[in-house]
Amino acid sequence: MKNIIKHTYHVSREDRNSQNGHNSFVIWFTGLSGSGKSTIANQLEKKLFDLGVKTYSLDGDNIRSGLNKGLSFTEEDRTENNRRIAEVAKLFMDAGLVTITAFISPLAEDREKAKEVIGDEDFIEVFVNTPLEVCEERDVKGLYKKARQGEIKNFTGISSPYEAPVNPDIEIKTENESIEESVERIFQVLKGKLAYN
Ligand code: PPS
Repeated sequence: MKNIIKHTYHVSREDRNSQNGHNSFVIWFTGLSGSGKSTIANQLEKKLFDLGVKTYSLDGDNIRSGLNKGLSFTEEDRTENNRRIAEVAKLFMDAGLVTITAFISPLAEDREKAKEVIGDEDFIEVFVNTPLEVCEERDVKGLYKKARQGEIKNFTGISSPYEAPVNPDIEIKTENESIEESVERIFQVLKGKLAYN
């Protein structure tokens, strides 16, 4: 970009990973509203934190209340939402943290771009594959009912698309396993990546 000259920092990501004693990377959850992304992401972070891993979580509702306040749920704004999350997640990863993101991130192209920003080997995609009928049946926040009644426009799965990942690193079926089992399964995949040598 014109007149922008990047700084080289004296403390690198490698330095931080070495000091923390583990690698940093991004665990990117995707799934419908009410699929269980945030619940599993939260439990996973707690497990990692309790083990002494440096972590940070970025979550849809929270980020949309602050950094991304003002972005709507049109395709364009979701793309911008997901782009900023990817950039922020990359910063946290550079800061040496195992970074967990939980956003619907409904478009395959946007997730692909996030993977490019973060880097292929540092991007672990977790697809929380809870069917629409189950999410709607649960309707924890009462949003599906509102969407069906036309009170919410562009609602994912109802009036806005969700493109399921074709080849996620991990797939979770919340009807078939408990939160603890899902967390444990994800943790087993992360274990090898965490080790810093
Ligand atoms: S996205 O698609 O990645 O930009 O969405 P995200 O930032 O994850 O925000 C999803 C949360 O916003 C609430 N909400 C909606 N979701 C989907 N569609 C519409 N129209 C909508 N309006 C509000 C909802 O609480 C989502 O939270 P989760 O945790 O996914 O249920």
